[in-house]
Amino acid sequence: MTIENTLSIIKPDATRRNLTGSINAKFEQAGLNIIAQKRLQLTKDMAQKFYEIHKDRPFFNDLVDFMISGPVVTQVLRGENAVKVNREVMGATNPKDAEKGTIRKEFAESIEANSVHGSDSLENAKCEISFFFAEIELIY
Ligand code: CMP
Repeated sequence: MTIENTLSIIKPDATRRNLTGSINAKFEQAGLNIIAQKRLQLTKDMAQKFYEIHKDRPFFNDLVDFMISGPVVTQVLRGENAVKVNREVMGATNPKDAEKGTIRKEFAESIEANSVHGSDSLENAKCEISFFFAEIELIY
């Protein structure tokens, strides 16, 4: 049994439509515990740094603009195989490809406004969690 922490971001398209609670219910129904959470307005600098890995992709500037277009909710989800379980609950990046019952199938508006971000590996999860949270803020 591997208990992991992973980073989740509820994106501006979802906070704008008041979907934070509905999305959190999906995480909790999947057995993930929300052990830290904060609502933030990202700055351009923060969004560029967070998504630095995508800086050469054609969608980078639009992605950064979208991520600063309204509040986000950053959170740490904890549970058995949390990285994988969270990615299953989120569904495919493009909502057109997402499975029924997933967050992106139910809530996402487009590949860009896709409601949630989740770490794609345990290594990245550690790095992404430390981007937003101090160790002392993770309560479990
Ligand atoms: P996310 O999991 O936050 O990681 C990078 C984000 O870039 C992704 O979700 C999408 O919201 C966004 N994005 C925009 N266009 C594309 C694209 N063509 N391919 C992949 N990701 C994209």
